[in-house]
Amino acid sequence: MNQTVADLIGRSNRLGADPKNTNYAGGNTSAKGTATDPVTGQEVELLWVKGSGGDLGTLAEKGLAVLRLDRVRALADVYPGVEQEDAMVAAFDYCLHGKGGAAPSIDTAMHALVDAAHVDHLHPDAGIALATAADGEALTREIFGDTVVWVPWRRPGFQLGLDIAAIQATHPDAVGCILGGHGITAWGATSAEAEQRSLAIIDTAAAWITEHSRPEPFGPALPGHAALPEAERRAKAAALAPALRAIASHDRPVVGHFTDSDVVLDFLAAAEHPRLAALGTSCPDHFLRTKVKPLVLDLPADAPVEDQIARAGELHAAYREDYQAYYDRHATPDSPAIRGADPSIVLVPGVGMFSYGKDKQTARVAGEFYVNAINVMRGAEGISRYAPIDEAEKFRIEYWALEEAKLQRMPAPKPLATRIALVTGAASGIGKAIATRLAAEGACVVIADLDAEKARAAAAEIGSTDVALGVAADVTDEAAVQAAVDACVLAFGGLDLVVNNAGLSLSKSLLDTTVADWELQHAVMAKGSFLVSRAAAKVLIEQGLGGDVVYISSKNSVFAGPNNIAYSATKADQGHQVRLLAAELGEHGVKVNGINPDGVVRGSGIFAGGWGAKRAAVYGVPEEELGAYYAQRTLLKREVLPEHVANAVFVLCSSDLSHTTGLHVPVDAGVAAAFLR
Ligand SMILES: NC(=O)c1ccc[n+]([C@@H]2O[C@H](COP(=O)([O-])OP(=O)(O)OC[C@H]3O[C@@H](n4cnc5c(N)ncnc54)[C@H](O)[C@@H]3O)[C@@H](O)[C@H]2O)c1
Ligand SMILES: [Zn+2]
Repeated sequence: MNQTVADLIGRSNRLGADPKNTNYAGGNTSAKGTATDPVTGQEVELLWVKGSGGDLGTLAEKGLAVLRLDRVRALADVYPGVEQEDAMVAAFDYCLHGKGGAAPSIDTAMHALVDAAHVDHLHPDAGIALATAADGEALTREIFGDTVVWVPWRRPGFQLGLDIAAIQATHPDAVGCILGGHGITAWGATSAEAEQRSLAIIDTAAAWITEHSRPEPFGPALPGHAALPEAERRAKAAALAPALRAIASHDRPVVGHFTDSDVVLDFLAAAEHPRLAALGTSCPDHFLRTKVKPLVLDLPADAPVEDQIARAGELHAAYREDYQAYYDRHATPDSPAIRGADPSIVLVPGVGMFSYGKDKQTARVAGEFYVNAINVMRGAEGISRYAPIDEAEKFRIEYWALEEAKLQRMPAPKPLATRIALVTGAASGIGKAIATRLAAEGACVVIADLDAEKARAAAAEIGSTDVALGVAADVTDEAAVQAAVDACVLAFGGLDLVVNNAGLSLSKSLLDTTVADWELQHAVMAKGSFLVSRAAAKVLIEQGLGGDVVYISSKNSVFAGPNNIAYSATKADQGHQVRLLAAELGEHGVKVNGINPDGVVRGSGIFAGGWGAKRAAVYGVPEEELGAYYAQRTLLKREVLPEHVANAVFVLCSSDLSHTTGLHVPVDAGVAAAFLR
C-alpha cells in the first residue's frame, strides 16, 4: 500500500475509534500525494478521500475514493454557482483515477480545495456544541484566537469547500475551522500534524466547555421525572415498547432499540428537556437519522403504563400533523415525496429512549446520534444558548435530491426485513436452523433455550447483536417466558414471528410411561407453547402489525404408532392449539400455522440423546443409518433435514402465504399414514 494511503487509513481508524471525535460513520478524512499514472508512466498528484458511507473507525483502502487532484481543483473554473452546486457531485466521476474505490462523497470538494496535504472533517460533540452555540462565532475567537476560524452554516457541498479554502487563504495562522451548525475541519502538512490539530481542537473545545459551563445546563430537576430504579425502568420499557413501536410503524414497520444510559435519563429528568428536544438536532448526520425532532412523552415517570400509552397516542397524532406541516411549509414541486411522518426517537422521562429504523443497526445508530445530540445541547447550553440550524435548512438536507438518490440506490430490503422473531428451543437442531433462516431473510431473531450459554453461542453463530440475541428461558415457566418476551421487545422493539419449537421426546410404551414422563412432555410442548403464544400474542395485538405464530408439531400429532403416548398426545395438543389460535387471533391479523416434521435425525438433539438409538434398535438398523432408513420409508425417498423445516417456516411467514392460517404443513418427505384430511 502507498505510504500516504497507509498513513491516512491509520489516522482515520484512530480518530474514528474514539466516539468523542466523531459520530458513527460521520466525518471524512483525506490525503494528497503522488502515484504513477499507468497511462503515461509519469507521477500524478492524487487525492485519497473517504468515500460516501462507511465509518472512519473501520475505514479500509477500498472505502477511499481516489481522484486526480488537478481535475477536481479544475472544477472550480466551471463551477456554476451555489444554485447548481449539486451538479458538481456528478462531475467528480470525471475526476476519478481508475476504477474501483468508493463513490466520492459530497465533502470531496472541501478536501480538494483546502490547500493542505491532509484534511480531517469531523463531527465531535464538543465541536458541534460550539458550532450550535448562539454566540459560537465570538466563542470560537475567544477560545482559539486566529488559529481556528468560524465558518457560517452552509449546507455541505462545493460552495462550503470554496468558503473554507477562502478562509484558509486569508488566515495564514489557521489550522482549522468550526463549521457553524455542523462540525469541524482541520488540516496539516503531514498526516500526524492534521491528526494532532484535529485532536487539539476537539480537546480544547471540550476542556473549555467543562471549565466554563454553568451548573445544570439542562435546568433544575423536574419533579417526578427522575430515573426509575433499573428493574422498574426496564419492566416499564418492556410494557411500553409494543405500543411505541406501533406509533413508529404507522407508515411502515420499523425495528427498535432501547437506551437508558445516564446521558438520556439525566436529560429527561431536567426542566429544559421539552424546550430543547423541540428545537431538534443540528448536525446533518444527526437529523437525517433522528428526524428533525423526537416525540417526547410529557408525563411523569410514575404515570401508569395505560396513561402513558394513551398520551403517546395523542402526541403521535400531533407529531404527524406537525411533520406534515413542516413538509408542506418547505416542499417545492420538485421535492421528493414525504417519507413518512412518524418519529424515529421517542423519549420517555424516567424510562429512557426508544429509537427506530429499517433494521436494528439503523435503529441503534439513530439512538447513538440522539445521545450525540444531547451532548451537543448540554455543551451549547452550558456556555451559551443552543441554536441549531433553522428548519428550512433542515428540510433542504432531509429532502435533498442527493440524499434521495442515495436512498434510491439502497438495495431492496430482504423479505423479512423489520420482522422480529422469537424461536424457542433454538440452540439446537430444527430451531437453530429456523433462526438461521429467518435471520438470513432479514429478520432479527431471539433464540430462547434452556441453556443460556448455548443460546448465546447459537446467536453468535448467526450474527452480531444487531441480528441475533440468545436468552435463557424454560418454556414451562410462566415468568421465564415473560422475561424472554420482554428481552425480545427491549432488544429489538417488538415481536412479529413466534416459533414454538422447544421440545423433547421420550419414546415409551404406555406401561412404561411414568406420570413424570407424561407431565414433562406436556409441560414443555403443550403448556410451553401455550405460555409462549399467550405472552407473545399480547405484544402482537398491541402492536397491531399482524404477525405469525408457527408451531413445530409433528407427524406424530396425527399418526398413531406404538410407544409414543405422551409425546404424540402433546403434539396433537399443539396441533389443535394451531387451529384454536388461528380462529382467535385472526381478527388481529395474526396467522397461526403448524409444521409436521418427521424423521429429522441430523443435527437433532432429540435423536442424539437416546431416542435415535432406541428407534434404530426398534427398526434393527445401525443408529448412523437411521436418517437413510427413514428416507426409504417416505414417498419421496428423501432424508428430511432441519433446513427443510426452516424453509417451511420461512414460507409460512413470507408475504406469499399472507392469506393462509390454521394450516399444517407436513415436512416429512411424504408419509401417507400422516396425510391430513
Ligand atoms: N427431529 C425430528 O424428527 C422431529 C420430528 C417432529 C417434530 N420435531 C419437533 O421439533 C422440535 C425441535 O426438535 P429437534 O429435533 O430440533 O430437537 P433438539 O433436541 O435438537 O432441539 C430441541 C431444543 O429444545 C430445547 N428445550 C427443551 N426443553 C425446553 C424447555 N423447557 N424450554 C426451552 N427450551 C427447551 C432443548 O434445549 C433443545 O435445544 C421439537 O418440538 C420436536 O418435537 C422433531
Ligand atoms: Zn459533516
